[in-house]
Amino acid sequence: MSRWAQLGRGRDGGDGGGDGAGYRRRFERLAARGVHVHGEADRCAALVPPGARVLDAGCGTGRVAIELARRGYDVVGVDLDAGMLGEARAVAPQLIWLQADLAGFDPAAHGVPGGFDLVVAAGNVVPLAAAGTEAQVVARMAAALRPDGVLLAGFGLDAAHLPLPEAPFGLPAYDAWCADAGLTLVERHATWAGEPFTGGGYAVSLHRR
Ligand SMILES: C[S@@+](CC[C@H](N)C(=O)[O-])C[C@H]1O[C@@H](n2cnc3c(N)ncnc32)[C@H](O)[C@@H]1O
Repeated sequence: MSRWAQLGRGRDGGDGGGDGAGYRRRFERLAARGVHVHGEADRCAALVPPGARVLDAGCGTGRVAIELARRGYDVVGVDLDAGMLGEARAVAPQLIWLQADLAGFDPAAHGVPGGFDLVVAAGNVVPLAAAGTEAQVVARMAAALRPDGVLLAGFGLDAAHLPLPEAPFGLPAYDAWCADAGLTLVERHATWAGEPFTGGGYAVSLHRR
């Protein structure tokens, strides 16, 4: 079971498997207050042009994918959590939403071609995978990329930046899983807006296949 699912359901506006409606409402409330909730989509858009094929890995309620589709990207969302995906499907039924475990994900098995230009994993997806499956999650995201495609992943490195009591792994482990999957680190920032990474509790990492 993913760590996300273990967090449990029913905590409106918080993190936890099954509460897709609460998760979506949290971001809607932020947006209503004028908070910019599309920093991840902005970063994706700075990396690949409209029309590019983007896989939103661990898409949840489709927050990133739906915004990218609105900007003209060719998006596919994949997530394990039926409750989260249900929200995505309700808001954007015209898009492709796949229910699958990233640890064994093969787009072709769902009738979707691989060779994505960009795979984005926003919102602590890798630390919220099931314990012990992280390397496989990274490997399958890498395999979904075209040669020269990029993997963009943002996640917390301490309890202050994760809905977990402690970080399940650090950047050396993540970089090693990426290297094993044939990916090379391009750059790393502290935020989706591109502030320099200086060893803080959150990192946005860009790796190229
Ligand atoms: C905090 S939510 C982030 C959702 C979305 N990316 C966003 O930023 O709004 C983390 C998501 O990762 C998904 N996830 C965790 N492990 C997964 C796995 N092995 N396969 C597919 N999805 C996974 C969870 O189901 C959950 O929807």
